[in-house]
Parts: sequence; C-alpha cells; structure tokens
Amino acid sequence: MLSLVPEVATLLARYDDGEAALHLRFRLEDGVRWQARPGQFFMLSLPGLGEAAFTFVSLPDEQGCFTALVRKVGKLTEALQDLPLGAFIGVRGPVGQPWPELAGKTVLVVAGGCGLAPLSAWIGQRMVTGQQQRTALLYSARSEDSRILAKEREAWRQAGLVMTLPVDDPAWHTPEELTQATGYRLDEALALLPSFPDAVLCCGPEAMMLGVGDMLEKRGLPSDVFWLSLERRMHCGIGLCGHCYVGSSLICKEGPTLTLTRTRELLAQQIATRPAWASC
Ligand SMILES: Cc1cc2nc3c(=O)[nH]c(=O)nc-3n(C[C@H](O)[C@H](O)[C@H](O)COP(=O)(O)OP(=O)(O)OC[C@H]3O[C@@H](n4cnc5c(N)ncnc54)[C@H](O)[C@@H]3O)c2cc1C
Ligand code: FES
Repeated sequence: MLSLVPEVATLLARYDDGEAALHLRFRLEDGVRWQARPGQFFMLSLPGLGEAAFTFVSLPDEQGCFTALVRKVGKLTEALQDLPLGAFIGVRGPVGQPWPELAGKTVLVVAGGCGLAPLSAWIGQRMVTGQQQRTALLYSARSEDSRILAKEREAWRQAGLVMTLPVDDPAWHTPEELTQATGYRLDEALALLPSFPDAVLCCGPEAMMLGVGDMLEKRGLPSDVFWLSLERRMHCGIGLCGHCYVGSSLICKEGPTLTLTRTRELLAQQIATRPAWASC
C-alpha cells in the first residue's frame, strides 16, 4: 500500500500560465523516483496548510523532475504560488488510474479551461509516439487570458497536432455555457480527424464533461469509449478516508479517469442512496 508519509521535493522553477495559474517545476529529492502514467495525480503538502491533489502536467523524468499547474483557489494553492525557488514541499504518489493508452486509435481530446492540464502528459506521449495524425484537440477557455499551457500548445502545434481554439466563442462563465461553447465546435473538431474517433478523452467541469458526452453519444460514440476525469475532494488519495466516495466507488482508487458509462452508474447510485432525512 502507498504510504501516507510524504517524500520531499524542491521547487525548481515557476512561471505564470493563464489567469491565476502558475506552472511549477519540482524535483524529487533523496534519490526517490516515480513511475507515473498520464492522468494519474499526486498529493502535495505544505506544513500547517494541508494537502491536496494535483495532476502531472509532465511526468517525472529520470532526474525526478516533473511539472504541475496550480490554480489559486484557497489557502494551500495561494501559499504554493508564493513559494520561493528552492523551497521544500511534501509529495505522495503517483496515485489513481491513468488515461487509457489507445495506441493506434483515432482519438478526440476535449478540454475546458484548466481541464487541459490533466490531458497534457497524455497528449505529450501521443506526440512522442508519432500519433498526431490520429489525434485532435478541441480546447475551450473563457478568454485568451484564461487559456493555460501556452508553451505546450505551441510545441504540440509544431509537432503537427490539429487543434481548434476558441477564437470566436461566445463568452462563458458557467459550466453550461462552456458545454454550449464546446458543442458549437464539436463537428469542426470531428472533421479534423481521419475517421470518427475510436475514443474521446475529456476534462473540464463535471457538467461540461457529462454534456459533451451526451452530445457525442447522439453522434454515435458509445459511452464506454468516452473517458473523463472525475474530481472529488481528496484527503488520503489511497482509499483510506472515504472523502472521495461517489456511489459505491472510491474515486481516488478507481478514478479519477472513468468511462462515461461507469460515471453515470456511480452518479445514479449516489442519488439512489441519499439518506431519507436529506429531503425532510
Ligand atoms: C484528482 C485531482 C487532481 C487535481 N489537479 C489539480 C491541478 O492540477 N491543479 C490545481 O490547481 N488543482 C487541482 N486539483 C484541485 C485541488 O486539489 C483543490 O483545488 C485543492 O483543494 C486546493 O486547496 P486549497 O487549500 O488551495 O483550497 P481549498 O480551501 O481546499 O478549496 C477552495 C475552494 O475550492 C473548492 N474545492 C476544492 N477542491 C475541490 C474539488 N476537488 N472539486 C470541487 N471543488 C473543490 C472548495 O470547496 C473551496 O470552495 C485537483 C483535484 C483532484 C481531486
Ligand atoms: S481520498 Fe481518501 S478514500 Fe479517496
């Protein structure tokens, strides 16, 4: 079983990467090396401020260096953004289930806002293995300022990845508006691929992922090849505390990557098991 005791990592570099978001580069210390796969996450802690889940934007390399994108939403993320270079942090991982590899398959990747971060390492591997012709990215963000991973997007573009960017989307603020904005360009994105996708990977607000899943199902995509990343508040990350329960599943262990079929099943269980007093 994975330990609850964190390893030590050092902050090596940082730069602004979209509204309220900072790109951070860390190195694992003491000879610790992780074998992580795209879509997995790690727990990051600061003494006195707590611990939270973060996605790998790039996976740990042979030197133990990896990157993450941190969006300021509360105390821990605010403190992380203020850390000086050379600061030590606690890290535990890698945890959770990765995205499917889908080698040789035609894949549409759909991301909304910061949802591009958990897909970044997967897209990177797709480029390294020469599968850009069979991959398209549909990315929606509220405004130009809020788009993340500018450097990665430019590298993917140069490597031949076809992308549709939100050039003339109507402004959106709610997940429903984001779903609409994504839906407007869905057919355009599908047309960029050599054939109808064998699978779709999607990450963004939950309502957006479920909405885009519905739209693609109406276009003939089976719900068991639509993959999404379901985020829940996580405390232990290794199946001990129960904070991440959805229906009968601990999302930190079975997820965060799940098919739409499985997600619907778990969300339906959650509604069915509401306690009787909840509606009193
Ligand atoms: C698998 C996974 C991967 C993640 N990857 C990243 C990442 O790469 N970059 C990043 O910036 N954040 C990521 N997060 C979210 C991050 O873990 C939380 O935002 C974290 O709680 C921030 O801590 P905080 O103390 O700054 O804010 P908190 O005080 O914990 O939270 C601030 C506000 O955000 C809400 N909130 C916190 N966590 C969640 C959640 N999971 N779902 C919905 N609302 C939430 C709280 O209710 C509160 O209103 C991820 C979460 C999960 C579960
Ligand atoms: S986060 Fe503790 S059981 Fe999932």
